[in-house]
Amino acid sequence: MTKTIEYPPGPSHTMRPFKLAREFLHDPIKTLQNISHHYGDISYFKLGRQHVYLLNNPDYIEKVLVYDHRNFTKGKRLQLAKALLGEGLVTSEGDIHNRQRRIIQPIFYPKQITIYGRVITDQSARLDQRWKNKDSVDILTEMMHLTLSIICKSVLNYDVESEAEDVGKALSICRNYSKRLQNPLGHVLNKIPILPNVKGSRKATETLDKLVYNLIKERREGLESNVKSYDDLLTRLLQAQDATESGPTVNNTTTSPRGTALSSATRVSDKQVRDEVMTIFIAGHETTANALTWTFYLLSQNPDVEKRLLDELASIIDSNRTPTVDDIPKLKFTEKVLRESMRLYPPVWTIGRSVDKNYTVGKYIVPSGSTIMMSQYVMHRDPRYFDEPDRFDPERWSSEARSSLPRFSYFPFGGGIRACIGESFAWMEGILVIATIARRWKMSLVPGHRVELDPAITLRPKYGMKMNLERRNV
Ligand code: HEM
Repeated sequence: MTKTIEYPPGPSHTMRPFKLAREFLHDPIKTLQNISHHYGDISYFKLGRQHVYLLNNPDYIEKVLVYDHRNFTKGKRLQLAKALLGEGLVTSEGDIHNRQRRIIQPIFYPKQITIYGRVITDQSARLDQRWKNKDSVDILTEMMHLTLSIICKSVLNYDVESEAEDVGKALSICRNYSKRLQNPLGHVLNKIPILPNVKGSRKATETLDKLVYNLIKERREGLESNVKSYDDLLTRLLQAQDATESGPTVNNTTTSPRGTALSSATRVSDKQVRDEVMTIFIAGHETTANALTWTFYLLSQNPDVEKRLLDELASIIDSNRTPTVDDIPKLKFTEKVLRESMRLYPPVWTIGRSVDKNYTVGKYIVPSGSTIMMSQYVMHRDPRYFDEPDRFDPERWSSEARSSLPRFSYFPFGGGIRACIGESFAWMEGILVIATIARRWKMSLVPGHRVELDPAITLRPKYGMKMNLERRNV
């Protein structure tokens, strides 16, 4: 006898599937917010043939991401991104993912990345030149350009300034392509190479491939001949590879969370290094650019907060010097500003998982093949955890308040084995960019500019963010 499935409450019980799908495609954030508001910690709905379970309870989310992660995959849709990212950290699953994560994780340890602080402030200070004759700019475009140049310099020691337009264009074609893959028909459309943006994206991938493979070759040669030393992430990736190949040094150089030695089977090929570099490119700049764009927008709308920020910066950093990583522990309010900005506008606004084996959440069994959604945007604005949730209030992040919140009521960087590997990098970058730019430039939203959400892979402002600029006297 087949057992009938007991579904959690949700709109599919009362609403026509077509209407719900239309609402979801039109405004996914509002739809998810409404659903969780109406139906609580766990709700159910159908999108096309997909059975979707929306979790909005920090403990359930923690269980899925941290304790029971083996029961889930990132799903088929993500596999489509492999066309661009190959088998990098974001797209790999299971043992392959664990192995890659073990090799790459140490490269991103907070102590290891502080050397990139200088890259961040140098690139941010260059905006002075770029903006000096401008009255207004689109801050989203500017932040994309900035974070791309930071990631290129940190990962590849590659200066995109001259070629930013080309590399940026190639990356943006690839990004749009990944966005298209989110379309339920994406995988079908992708099989027709004559469609212009499929062709364009292949060409863009080729451009990026050429650049990255050339740099890998160059760096290998440089490392072998010992002529020059490099301190970029590419070198570290290649060294991590070498370390895993050379037996005895393995245990000293790469720390496996389970304490297991990495065998020669963990050797990383050029193709894998390329895939990781491409992954870090894509994962490591758009997210931070969005976080910074929303932060500058929020500051422009909240002069009191902006004033407190400027007071802190003035008290810690003399006007004749640029901020450094050593300032970061003292920039407590700056950190709160960024934290609060990512609460209101989490750059990754939702995380999805595909259920591998039947899974119990609360009193429900979620059948294998279903999708679990956990939305940072929805959770971060839940009034059970955040008073006046729509208000921008960095002061809410006192250490007492932080320690009283459940761990997964705030999770802009995800959690568990698939948590953001670049989290420390992102905090360092975010704080230093805010500290460098806010001190020198006052921004105010161009009157009449529409600010709306565009929840694609990351949460962008739909029409960019047009800001008037005013040079401050520092
Ligand atoms: C504010 C900035 C950032 C945010 C909000 C962010 C957020 C996230 C989130 C939520 C995930 C997990 C997705 C999931 O579980 O499905 C993730 C994964 C990842 N992020 Fe970030 N990220 C940021 C910056 C960065 C930076 C700067 C880098 C690299 C330098 C980076 C590299 C990655 C990689 C490689 C993964 C995949 C990790 C894995 O699956 O093992 N991210 N990020």
